[in-house]
Amino acid sequence: MSKKVLVISSSLRNKSNSEILARQAAKGAEDAGHDVEFITLKDKTLNFCKGCLACQKTMRCVIRDDASEICEKVGNAEVLIFANPIYYYELCGQLKTLLDRCNPLYPSDYKFRDVYLITASAEDGDEVCQTAKGGLQGWVDCFEKARLVKVLSGGGLSVPAEAEQSEEYLKATYELGRNV
Ligand SMILES: Cc1cc2nc3c(=O)[nH]c(=O)nc-3n(C[C@H](O)[C@H](O)[C@H](O)COP(=O)(O)O)c2cc1C
Repeated sequence: MSKKVLVISSSLRNKSNSEILARQAAKGAEDAGHDVEFITLKDKTLNFCKGCLACQKTMRCVIRDDASEICEKVGNAEVLIFANPIYYYELCGQLKTLLDRCNPLYPSDYKFRDVYLITASAEDGDEVCQTAKGGLQGWVDCFEKARLVKVLSGGGLSVPAEAEQSEEYLKATYELGRNV
């Protein structure tokens, strides 16, 4: 059955490794017949959540920037794939900001159920992405109908476009997309 899949790439760097892997996941999902939309935060304006909580009553944010449109897309997708460059063993600030700005979805009839995380980091090893995984898990846990299905960590990726040389990660992210 075709699913609505939203892929969000959060790195702002040219030839981003996590974006290369996210595009593979998008390709895999498209090839599997899903309805896929790819968003990069590169060209977006995202301000920090002010914590006013007005959105919990009005279902929309008081800040006028690109977060509202992305938030609506997040709420309407069935599958979310987030791509994140590891910064100080954590989610990068731009993805964390977006997750916070999706707060209008908390009391809503959001559609997403399955959430995936793809990371890129200079260091290799399972522990490198654990805190980032925990950060996204915390967000997912607040949406009771959703679950964090899989985390794919691309370790050993340092310079831009290095992911293009990694058959292993390209294949793994393509398969992740194919199997959403
Ligand atoms: C501010 C900053 C912090 C970083 N912190 C880490 C880190 O804690 N561990 C790590 O392995 N790599 C770290 N890196 C390296 C990036 O994760 C790595 O270059 C990755 O390929 C970036 O993904 P991107 O190309 O999608 O932006 C850091 C890079 C930056 C710019």
